[in-house]
Amino acid sequence: MLKNDQLDAWDRENFFHPSTHLAEFARGDMPNRVITGGSGSHIQDRDGNRLLDAFAGLYCVNVGYGRSEIANAIAAQAQELAYYHAYVGHGTEASITLAKMVLDRAPDHMSKVYFGLSGSDANETNIKLIWYYNNILGQPEKKKIISRWRGYHGSGLMTGSLTGLELFHRKFDLPLAPVLHTEAPYYYRRPDLGQSEKAFVAHCVAELEALIAREGAETIAAFIGEPALGTGGLVPPPDGYWPAIQEVLDRHDILLIADEVVTGFGRLGSMFGSDHYGMRPDLITIAKGLTSAYAPLSGSIVSDKVWSVLEQGTDENGPIGHGWTYSAHPIGAAAGVANLRLIDSLDLVSKAGATGAFFKTALQQAVGDHAHVGEVRGEGLLCAVEFVQDRADRVFFDPADKVGPRLAAALLERGVIARAMPQGDILGFAPPFCLTEAEAQEVATKLGEAVRSVLG
Ligand SMILES: Cc1ncc(COP(=O)(O)O)c(C=O)c1O
Repeated sequence: MLKNDQLDAWDRENFFHPSTHLAEFARGDMPNRVITGGSGSHIQDRDGNRLLDAFAGLYCVNVGYGRSEIANAIAAQAQELAYYHAYVGHGTEASITLAKMVLDRAPDHMSKVYFGLSGSDANETNIKLIWYYNNILGQPEKKKIISRWRGYHGSGLMTGSLTGLELFHRKFDLPLAPVLHTEAPYYYRRPDLGQSEKAFVAHCVAELEALIAREGAETIAAFIGEPALGTGGLVPPPDGYWPAIQEVLDRHDILLIADEVVTGFGRLGSMFGSDHYGMRPDLITIAKGLTSAYAPLSGSIVSDKVWSVLEQGTDENGPIGHGWTYSAHPIGAAAGVANLRLIDSLDLVSKAGATGAFFKTALQQAVGDHAHVGEVRGEGLLCAVEFVQDRADRVFFDPADKVGPRLAAALLERGVIARAMPQGDILGFAPPFCLTEAEAQEVATKLGEAVRSVLG
């Protein structure tokens, strides 16, 4: 229990919370939540409520809460050397070891890893590296980046532009000019209801081809995508999507960035989503699962093909003009090393696959037949339930009815945290990999109760 009884007032007077309705919060029209502890798949708030966190924070606490192996590694690093920079060839045992561990797990054609602090800054790094790459190759006009509607790649200037969700653009003067958006691989929301999955993949490919033809391949540098859409709805791609997209990109000499901030290090039941879906990325973005969020750390994994051009660039132009004070921060790196060791020793990647399959079936059994459930979907421990007004004709609810947030609130009342995704009435589930089958069943059972209480 917290001792400070002014915390409520201090929070509303001083703290600018991200992704929050600022006016409602300041007025006290929405609750503040103060989280005080966590263990395994549960967190605890200041009132002593114990909640099953079926979204692992922001799908990042992959090994679960309260892991002393990681906490001890962070403490030991802070005692020994809390900070030194990584510029001009400097490093620490932790950062060098982590780079080796990441590369050992990444697809074979990857060469080096640059460490940042957040998924957003890692994607900013990727875009800069791609622009640099094309300048070194003498293709200065090849700079545009294609992203997908409903993709999520961060909320900086470029990364907020890459993100294909309206909320992240509106009133921020985004997207910026070099970003183009194409069809989301979201079969359930296909424009033509009569389309087969195969025909829908062909439609996504045709949309991409048409965009490339309109803009000119010589102006397009890269395509960025999450292996499975995350914040845009938690949607595994339709069968054959990535091989078909990869073929188009290869033909037009367009690089591929796999944004694996959510999928990296096991969430789909494979070490990387790129392996899972047969992608061959030129750059891979990592963050969340790299440290299970015990400390902020992200990375850009660079392929042999891009790396050789970066080396050529520095031979011609001098040291690369890119880096942050906190790049490869030793405390984050120590957390990363301990986290990846834990994932190995507990075999959490295959566990995510097995528990994910159990969980998806449990969700299906709990709510799959409900008149307002349009789809139950998922891959590994990335699952979603999408709600509709009319199931047969796929009529969506009016967003003003806030069905998703009301369902999340009803579930929270029953002690389970799911995330109402920002666009559509979609409840997202991305629990820690240590979730037990009993906990997975509890989430599904309580979801059934919550759905019946809100939607009848
Ligand atoms: C796929 C993906 N990329 C990038 C980001 C941005 O990461 P961050 O919030 O650490 O900047 C996120 C965050 O959720 C994400 O899901």
